[in-house]
Parts: sequence; structure tokens; C-alpha cells
Amino acid sequence: MIPTTRLLTVAGLVLAVAIASGAAQAPTKIISSSTGVYTTAQAARGEQTYMSICVACHPAGTYTAPAFREKWNGSLASDFFQFLKASMPKLEPGSLEPEEYAQVIAYLLKINGVPAGKQDLPADVKALKRIRISIPTAK
Ligand code: HEC
Repeated sequence: MIPTTRLLTVAGLVLAVAIASGAAQAPTKIISSSTGVYTTAQAARGEQTYMSICVACHPAGTYTAPAFREKWNGSLASDFFQFLKASMPKLEPGSLEPEEYAQVIAYLLKINGVPAGKQDLPADVKALKRIRISIPTAK
């Protein structure tokens, strides 16, 4: 016979694990970039950065082309942010401030027809994980 107290301990543990894993798996609400996830002021700053740094290798218009739109449409904003931070500008990856990467992303969203909103796009991976890039179909 297994003592009742031990059974209760096991039951308690099972319950505790169930609660803990439930909390860990709580779904994070992901919003679409079509809900207004950057500001026009932020995109304007991003345009300055793009035109002073990125344009040397990526002429204006590069990132409204279908190849870019198809590649990043549906991705999490955090993936794009991390990609840029890890690899751009090509010769000095990571040399911009996190805010500057967010501004450039805001600019790229804007020129792809994603609507602006009232809050800046966050410059933080955790917050960006909640935003899915949704690029409207080209006209
Ligand atoms: C010195 C040249 C250079 C500069 C400056 C540069 N890039 Fe790049 N970029 C590249 C090259 C080369 C690639 C091709 C992929 C690779 O080799 O990593 C690339 C790839 C990319 C891609 C991926 C394209 C795709 O198919 O999705 C993006 C987006 C990008 N760059 C954005 C930027 C942004 C934004 C800046 C400015 C902050 C920037 N780059 C600055 C050279 C550069």
C-alpha cells in the first residue's frame, strides 16, 4: 500500500507542473502590422538613416520590389529586426542603435504601404515578437 500522504504529494506535484507548463504556454497575442505599429515621425527618421547609410548598397526602391515583399510578408517583426541588427550595414553589422534599426523598419513598412499608427515600433526583440509583418498587395 502506498501511504495516502505520498499520493497527495504526487498529486500536488502533478498539479503544480500542469499549472506551470500552462503558464509557460499561454499564447502571446500577435498583432498584424496593419493595425498601425509605427509612427510617421519614426519612419521619417528611418528614411534619413536609409538615405545616408543603406542607400550606398541598396538603391531607393530595392525594398518595395516583389522579392523583398514576398520574403518578409508574414514574418515576425522581431525576425526582421534581428536580421538587420546581425547583418546590416554589411561592413559594420550592429553598428546602429536599436532605435535606428526600428526606425529603418518603420520606413520600410511605410514605403510598402503599411499604415502608420500612434505608437513607435518598439526597438526591443520581445515586443517585436508580437508583431507580424503584413504587407498590403501591390496595386
Ligand atoms: C556595404 C553595403 C551594404 C550596406 C551599407 C547595407 N547593406 Fe544590406 N545587404 C548588403 C548585401 C551584400 C546584402 C545581400 C545579403 C548578404 O550578403 O548578407 C544585403 C542584404 C540586405 C537585406 C536582405 C534582402 C532580402 O532579400 O531580404 C536587407 C533587408 C538589407 N540588406 C537592408 C539593409 C539596411 C536597412 C541597411 C542600412 C541600415 C543596409 N542593408 C546596409 C549590403 C549592404
